[in-house]
Amino acid sequence: MKLKDRVAIVTGGASGIGAASARLFAAEGAKLALVDQDNVGLGQVAADIEAAGGSAIIIPADVSSDAEARAGVDRVIEKWGRVDVLLTAAGMSTGGTVDTIEEAAWDRTFAVNVKGTYLWIHYAIKSMIENPRAPSSPSARSSRSRARARMRRTSPPRAPSPRSPRPWPSITPPRASASTR
Ligand SMILES: NC(=O)c1ccc[n+]([C@@H]2O[C@H](COP(=O)([O-])OP(=O)(O)OC[C@H]3O[C@@H](n4cnc5c(N)ncnc54)[C@H](O)[C@@H]3O)[C@@H](O)[C@H]2O)c1
Repeated sequence: MKLKDRVAIVTGGASGIGAASARLFAAEGAKLALVDQDNVGLGQVAADIEAAGGSAIIIPADVSSDAEARAGVDRVIEKWGRVDVLLTAAGMSTGGTVDTIEEAAWDRTFAVNVKGTYLWIHYAIKSMIENPRAPSSPSARSSRSRARARMRRTSPPRAPSPRSPRPWPSITPPRASASTR
């Protein structure tokens, strides 16, 4: 089990990507804190996880609320003493395009999708930094080192800094010589 006894918070845990991920994390041994504004969906996903032998608590909350994010993370720490994993899948879309979307809908979308993500990271990351954990299993360790190696192989070369002695190579095509004009 890759997440045995890890404590995972999943926002948007009542449906879609969040619910599917929460079920998967629970199957891998994690204890789940499910966050959502949909209480019915939260109850259903938590019940499914418990029925399959896992542990789940529900945290009904609006992810864009600072107070609710702080209280939600506090509740997880109170219950299990730590946070190891955070997945922020709560999100919304009002549809429309920049010429039709109203300002209030734009603001709400950013409050949920962007600020909601920031707030939960902001409160959850403290516990991760203060209580780091070694990888749970040799397979998790080796998949981590494989991922790191893959990133090293696929990372693009760094852009030279402004003070770098080597400028970017020119992309201007060479001038045609007299013989080809
Ligand atoms: N499914 C996809 O293919 C896909 C692709 C790209 C992006 N996305 C985005 O990823 C996010 C999740 O997608 P999904 O398919 O799981 O959507 P979903 O609608 O099934 O799940 C989103 C969950 O977030 C919850 N939520 C919304 N606003 C909230 C708030 N203020 N506070 C707490 N909970 C709130 C909803 O109640 C819902 O349970 C969405 O933002 C979606 O736009 C999805």
